[in-house]
Amino acid sequence: MKYLIPIALLIVLAPGFAWGQDWVVPEERKGRLSTFPFTDETRQSGEKLYVTNCISCHGTPGKGNYISLVPSPGDPATEKIQKNSDGEIFHKVSTGRGQMPSFRNILSGDEIWHVVSYIRSFNKNYIQKVMQVITSSAYPGAVIRMTMGYNEADSTVFVSASAVDEKKTVAVTGAGVRLFARRYFGMMAIDEEKTTDESGKAAFRIPAGLPGDREGNVHFSAKFTDEDQFGIVSMDTILLAGDRTIPVSLLAERAMWNNVRKAPVWVLLTYTIGVIAVWGFIFLIMMKLRDIYIIGSIIQGKKSAEAITETENQPT
Ligand code: HEC
Repeated sequence: MKYLIPIALLIVLAPGFAWGQDWVVPEERKGRLSTFPFTDETRQSGEKLYVTNCISCHGTPGKGNYISLVPSPGDPATEKIQKNSDGEIFHKVSTGRGQMPSFRNILSGDEIWHVVSYIRSFNKNYIQKVMQVITSSAYPGAVIRMTMGYNEADSTVFVSASAVDEKKTVAVTGAGVRLFARRYFGMMAIDEEKTTDESGKAAFRIPAGLPGDREGNVHFSAKFTDEDQFGIVSMDTILLAGDRTIPVSLLAERAMWNNVRKAPVWVLLTYTIGVIAVWGFIFLIMMKLRDIYIIGSIIQGKKSAEAITETENQPT
């Protein structure tokens, strides 16, 4: 029994200690660099992304107003985060750990780099190293390019990859590719992973009824799955491949925020009955408590009356 509290404490705190340990990033990921230089533009876009995705936990950089979690998220303007290499920040943001969410499916690779560029703007000593070309071990010296298109006839989106160097352009074959559609929150995987054929193409079946915007536009993102072999290439395009979706009007009959008048009668009835039942039950319990109190005071009254009679009967 006396070990109970220490054991309970250990169970509660152990994950904290485990996470508090150094967050080790695999060697080959540490040296990863952005393919584009950080500019005011990337910093501005990074700031926007930071405000929507990170500020809730990490606070405003330089203000130290991050929320208290174990292990601590930390202020991005401080040594804790700045001591990481670009590749380490990129890896940590994309994989996450513990309370730190994984942003792999929420932000594209370029977007994570924009956030890194914003975070680096708080470090005066930082000098950026840029990866000159997107090299891939499969096509040394070449730049990998992706193009995307929509084939209405069989409702597929095709991704076509080629390796371009000074002399020639060749198709990238045998590369695993994944396709995502951007949603309000994160990205939705489309079809399964495909491998590029001998012409460098991979086709993805678009599910029927994929919602697009008013015109039917869908924002697609294609990525190589084997980044070590083919390089970190991703491609974003907007294609007219979805269904036209008219956003629900604020005045629509069944909108969630609509006034009570438009709620179906049965919902109102069930709700009202439920509320009455719960309060009725509470009232019942209160009444029973009152009864117990009354009975208690009657018994107590009797007892003290007896005591008085006893003292009165005592001989003087
Ligand atoms: C839900 C809260 C939360 C959100 C949102 C969040 N983080 Fe974190 N972050 C954490 C916590 C907690 C840690 C510490 C994790 C650990 O050490 O295990 C952390 C750690 C980190 C680290 C590693 C710090 C180190 O010590 O090396 C980086 C870099 C980072 N976050 C960047 C970001 C960025 C960029 C975003 C937005 C894209 C973001 N975080 C969004 C909670 C959050």
